[in-house]
Amino acid sequence: MLSQSLVKEKRTKTFDTSWDFRTADTKYSNHGFHSYPAMMIPQIARRLIETYGAKAEILLDPFMGSGTALLEATLHQNFRKVYGIDINPLALLIAKVKTTPIKLALLKEEYVKFMQRCNDDFRAVNFKEKIVEKPYFFNIDFWFKPHVITDLAILKSNIAKVEDENIRNFFLVAFSETVRDVSNTRSNEYKLYRKSQDMLRKHNPKTFLKFKENLESNLVGMEEYVNICNKSCDVRILAEDTRNLTSIPEGEVDLIVTSPPYGDSRTTVAYGQFSRLALQWLGYDPKEVLAIDKVSLGGIPTKELENGLESPHLAQTMKQVIEQDPKRAKDVLSFYVDFAKCVKELDRVTKKGAFLCFVVGNRTVKGIKIPTDDIITDLFQAQNNYKHHHTFIRNIPSKRMPRSNSPTNVKGNHAVTMNEEWIVILEKL
Ligand SMILES: C[S@@+](CC[C@H](N)C(=O)[O-])C[C@H]1O[C@@H](n2cnc3c(N)ncnc32)[C@H](O)[C@@H]1O
Repeated sequence: MLSQSLVKEKRTKTFDTSWDFRTADTKYSNHGFHSYPAMMIPQIARRLIETYGAKAEILLDPFMGSGTALLEATLHQNFRKVYGIDINPLALLIAKVKTTPIKLALLKEEYVKFMQRCNDDFRAVNFKEKIVEKPYFFNIDFWFKPHVITDLAILKSNIAKVEDENIRNFFLVAFSETVRDVSNTRSNEYKLYRKSQDMLRKHNPKTFLKFKENLESNLVGMEEYVNICNKSCDVRILAEDTRNLTSIPEGEVDLIVTSPPYGDSRTTVAYGQFSRLALQWLGYDPKEVLAIDKVSLGGIPTKELENGLESPHLAQTMKQVIEQDPKRAKDVLSFYVDFAKCVKELDRVTKKGAFLCFVVGNRTVKGIKIPTDDIITDLFQAQNNYKHHHTFIRNIPSKRMPRSNSPTNVKGNHAVTMNEEWIVILEKL
């Protein structure tokens, strides 16, 4: 139970623009390999690692996404092992590739052979000497123009011929980013919205050139990474669910750096929708792909509004949301019910003295600000002896996170929900 003294604990929070990194280059080394919703700014991960984990040896990002925190950790010599967990196969692929050093000479050798094979295929297809086998998945023609489907199919079949798994995955990441670039989706949306008829008429992507551009840019990143990364660091990418018992041994982790989802996937960021087209092109099981948003935190609304969660801040907020809209309240609650399960698991895997750093968004629902920073602090303190060290509040200067979303899931019905992030630092005593 949360003791009265903890509930009344004064939590130090400061608005600190030095965490904004307004003009920072966020794409250095392998950080620019692939876009992903609500990516962490690498400079934030770096500063957290250097401030709270200078002596840490084992880092965990339990909501790893594209692996920003993991990649940063592998750029520091003190880490023996880093763990990343995610339920999204696209996140697992991107994070794996970003943290796997590959010698440039090998990549370049494969690149030359690959380009030659593709050029031969494009020529043969143009002269009708060869027919490419096109994949089929639901609505493929709705999301891609016919010539784009042909070009992507040629690229995909040639990537499949790359024998070395790490190099093949490296190509697949550039391919996945290209799928997004050349699809008929609106480029400024994370959810799946098709371009307007007018935009579609002007949309004539050069798929091969776009892929080449993505791949070459990633080659430059990898060249830098190979020279600066800690090659003795053991990177473990886990296709697991942080709500459950994970394969991480008890008390092993001495630093957590993470940015969890901002709320349930229906009304905040739909990682599954963002990843769907790329994953379908990569050949993942459509059922698994469609299920991503359901297995994300808060993917299924709670049946009841009763909850046994030990967070005074959540209790107070839920009361307000229920008054406004009980159905919406179930969406909100589902996220925290799931988050509380993660807290239990994170408490199990961390050792005493570990620092836990969470970058969270305090979203607004029905005009009510949800204090996620305080709720997660409550949940940890209800579990074990955690000291709240500090909460830094930063501006979100760039568009890496949609500032406005569609709370009613209606296209165009936007409401400004988030301009700031809260960086919560806890210490396990
Ligand atoms: C805000 S994103 C992380 C972004 C990441 N920091 C980056 O820089 O790319 C949150 C991630 O949590 C993942 N996630 C959601 N539910 C999860 C769960 N139950 N277990 C593990 N990961 C989960 C989502 O798939 C998403 O990739």
